[in-house]
Amino acid sequence: MILGIETSCDETAAAVVYGGKILSSVVRSQVDLFREFGGIVPEISSRRHLELIQVMVEQALSRAGVDLKEIKGVAATKKPGLIGSLLVGYSYAKALAYGLDVPLVGVDHLHAHVYSAEIGRKFEFPLLGIVVSGGHSAAYMVEGLKFKTVARTRDDAAGEALDKVAKKLGLGYPGGPVIERMAREGNPHAYDFSVVRLKDGSLDFSYSGLKSQAIRIIEREMPQGKRLRDFLASFQRAVVDQIIDRMESLVKIYRPSSVAITGGVSINQHLRDRARAFARKAGVKLYLPEKKYCGDNAAMVGYLGEKLLEAGFREDLFSTPFPRTEASKGVKQFR
Ligand code: KG4
Ligand code: ZN
Repeated sequence: MILGIETSCDETAAAVVYGGKILSSVVRSQVDLFREFGGIVPEISSRRHLELIQVMVEQALSRAGVDLKEIKGVAATKKPGLIGSLLVGYSYAKALAYGLDVPLVGVDHLHAHVYSAEIGRKFEFPLLGIVVSGGHSAAYMVEGLKFKTVARTRDDAAGEALDKVAKKLGLGYPGGPVIERMAREGNPHAYDFSVVRLKDGSLDFSYSGLKSQAIRIIEREMPQGKRLRDFLASFQRAVVDQIIDRMESLVKIYRPSSVAITGGVSINQHLRDRARAFARKAGVKLYLPEKKYCGDNAAMVGYLGEKLLEAGFREDLFSTPFPRTEASKGVKQFR
């Protein structure tokens, strides 16, 4: 039995995993705390994690019907994320591993998102793993536990662009769900947002140009009613266009057997439909996570953590988490 812990951003989560099966997965979101701010306040988030972590671990154990003594390894998100938030979960995991005298493994949050799409299935490698979330947009070529970063976030992440546009419109936080809801009755071609490609030919993700274009339109015409729905449908379509565009190019270059699209934004139905249509056309297998595993959760951390522990990965109890990875914006190499 492996205990998974996730506290990298604004969800406090714990899960029990055994043999690739999720015995329990509990997530407490902090979004209600941040709605009025239009985004996460890191200090408030870490304090909330501190209040919740013990309760969430107890809940995960009791829902799985597992005693703490049965836990044979602890897996916790080590990077990337908000440093204060990461520290709460990772320090808790270190202390617990020490107390139980079981191994600890640190998990890359983005790698865990990729593996969220394998829960209940078996990946076919080589796999193109795409993560689109609030903090990151990244793509990896994955072979078992080996990850090679093939595209990363140049500026804003996909979900961040949705969140910032929603904030500008006074629609609250997070932006993705409300934009998806309102976009349903809009015309996705009413506004002419074009696909952003980088001048240097790189396949990195870039959303700040698209976000600024959207914000300029909001400032100019403050769309209302039907026009607002058209605007949001068009903006959502443009955010998805870029993901599909990168997926198409990366599939051409790396010729994977399969593709996984994961992370908070992968719950979006427009993205899921477009990805399915592309995969069918390109003849690649597509994995989309179950909707409960799209957003941040500890099941994916425990799931990948179990594989890492089986492969012999161990974390020193003096190790510390860190906020960035090589897939983070503007960072070429980090440790
Ligand atoms: O993976 P996640 O829960 O946290 C990070 O690791 O960042 O992703 C959160 C992101 C937010 O930007 C949120 O707006 C976006 O996922 N999101 C959505 C939807 N639900 C959440 N984006 C598009 N459509 C949705 N329905
Ligand atoms: Zn995430």
